[in-house]
Amino acid sequence: MSVVRCDGIVQIYKAQDVEVVALRDVDLVIDEGETVALLGPSGAGKSTLLWLLAGLLRPSAGRLWLDGADVSRLNQRRLDRLRAAHIGMVLQNPARNLIGYLSAAQNVAFAQRAVKRDRPRARDLLHQVGLSDAGDRPAGRMSGGEQQRLAVAVALANAPKLLLADEPTSQLDEESGTRVVELIKRAAADSGTTAVVVTHDTAVSEALSRTVTIRDGRVGAEGRSGEDFVVVGREGAVQVPPEYHHLLPPGSMARIEELEDGIALRRAEP
Ligand SMILES: Nc1ncnc2c1ncn2[C@@H]1O[C@H](COP(=O)(O)OP(=O)(O)O)[C@@H](O)[C@H]1O
Ligand SMILES: [Mg+2]
Repeated sequence: MSVVRCDGIVQIYKAQDVEVVALRDVDLVIDEGETVALLGPSGAGKSTLLWLLAGLLRPSAGRLWLDGADVSRLNQRRLDRLRAAHIGMVLQNPARNLIGYLSAAQNVAFAQRAVKRDRPRARDLLHQVGLSDAGDRPAGRMSGGEQQRLAVAVALANAPKLLLADEPTSQLDEESGTRVVELIKRAAADSGTTAVVVTHDTAVSEALSRTVTIRDGRVGAEGRSGEDFVVVGREGAVQVPPEYHHLLPPGSMARIEELEDGIALRRAEP
C-alpha cells in the first residue's frame, strides 16, 4: 500500500505582500517500507514537502494521502491523531525535537506515553544510536551530535509507519551517521517503516532504496538502485540535470530528435 501519495501538490507561502511558490505540481507515491532520500539544492522545497508529509502543513492545492487517508477530508483532531500514532519526525534543528530538561531515556519514554502498542524498548533504541551511556544528563546539555541521535531514537519510539527526517546526520561523524542509517533501514525491514530523509550526505542517499530530487519546487529526478532518471512533469517539462548544463545550459534552445524509444535534445544555435 502507498503510505504517501501526492497528487499535483502546490504549496504557497504568503508573507505580507509576497507569495512564494515553494512546491508546484508535485506528484509522488511512496510505498510501505521504501526508504527515500530527498535531495535538492537549498530553497528547492524539501523541508516544505517534509512538513506536508508530516501533516504539519496542509497543501494550498492538490491532494495528499497519508496512510491511505485523504488529508483534506481529515479535521484537525483526526489529523493530529494520525500524526501522533503513525508519524515520527526529526526536525532540522536537533534540540527542537527534545525536551531539554529530560534525560535521553525520559525523552523516549515521553514520546511513548500516549501510544499503546508494540514498540521498541527505550534501552534498545538508545543502544542502537550509541547513547546507552547517556545517563541522567539532560538532553539540553548534550552535544549537537548526541541530540541528533536522540532525536532519531525519539522519532522511532512508536515504531511509526512513516519516519520523516530533515538532515538527521548533519552533525554526525561517519560512524554515528552510519549507525543512524542502519537504524532507519532496520526499522524499514523489521517494522515496514517508510522513511523520507532529507540529506546532502551521499553516504546516506546511497544506502537508501530510492532518491527523489526536488528542484525549484518540482520533482526533477528520481534514482533507484544506483540509476538516475529525469521525471517528465505534468506539462511535459523535464529538468536538465546540472551535470549536463555545460552541454545544454539553462535558457538555451534545443532541437528535438525523435528516437525509437524517446527523444534526444540537441543544442541549437539560434
Ligand atoms: N514560512 C515560510 N514563509 C515564506 N517562505 C518560505 C517559508 N518557508 C520556506 N519558504 C520559502 O519556500 C521555498 C522552499 O523552502 P524550503 O522548503 O525550506 O526549501 P529547502 O528545505 O529545500 O531548502 C524557499 O524559497 C523558501 O524561502
Ligand atoms: Mg530545508
